[in-house]
Amino acid sequence: MKPLPILSVDEKSLREKESKVLLVRDTVIYSPIPKIFESCEGSFLYDNAGKTYLDLQMWYSAVNFGYRNPTLINALKAQLDRLPQLACQYLHPEKILLAEKLANECLRAFGVEGRIQFNVGGAQAVEDSLKLVRNETKKSLMFAFTGGYHGRTLGASEITSSYRYRRRFGHFSNRAHFVPYPYCYRCPYGKKTGYL
Ligand SMILES: Cc1ncc(COP(=O)(O)O)c(C=O)c1O
Repeated sequence: MKPLPILSVDEKSLREKESKVLLVRDTVIYSPIPKIFESCEGSFLYDNAGKTYLDLQMWYSAVNFGYRNPTLINALKAQLDRLPQLACQYLHPEKILLAEKLANECLRAFGVEGRIQFNVGGAQAVEDSLKLVRNETKKSLMFAFTGGYHGRTLGASEITSSYRYRRRFGHFSNRAHFVPYPYCYRCPYGKKTGYL
């Protein structure tokens, strides 16, 4: 069932506010006027007029379980009601049990026993990986594929080749050495086949 909209701010004033208060290109803009949505369910998004849109971008990692997936939402609500926050000096059962599941999966998939470090997002996970490698090898120069995206923090930007994410920030001291990705889409070498 479609949830009722909770905000009654009209689109014109939202756009006026957006043009003043949001950082330019805070939203990754593929269209000149990004659509404003109010709610969602499964594969669908709804605008403030109640119009339904089938979201063909469900490949995005944050939404590929479907919007408002009840399993995830209910688990989240239950946790919020019971223990929403805990200082990192302490432990809670879910942290240990989830780490066990991930470590088991790591062993099954890669044959490697591992320990889990939780973090809050992709860029931070990449930063942790960079720190692990530096600590282990005492080296800081990285290889990364061209065309990749690793996040917007400084360390993740260093290994992101895309001009869009670095043109405003100059050259980074630890910039990775970029190597071509094997799949030659819009091939910089003029190859006609899909692979180099
Ligand atoms: C491959 C990849 N790495 C890193 C990130 C950065 O993740 P976050 O936005 O959670 O920092 C993304 C985000 O889209 C990503 O697609």
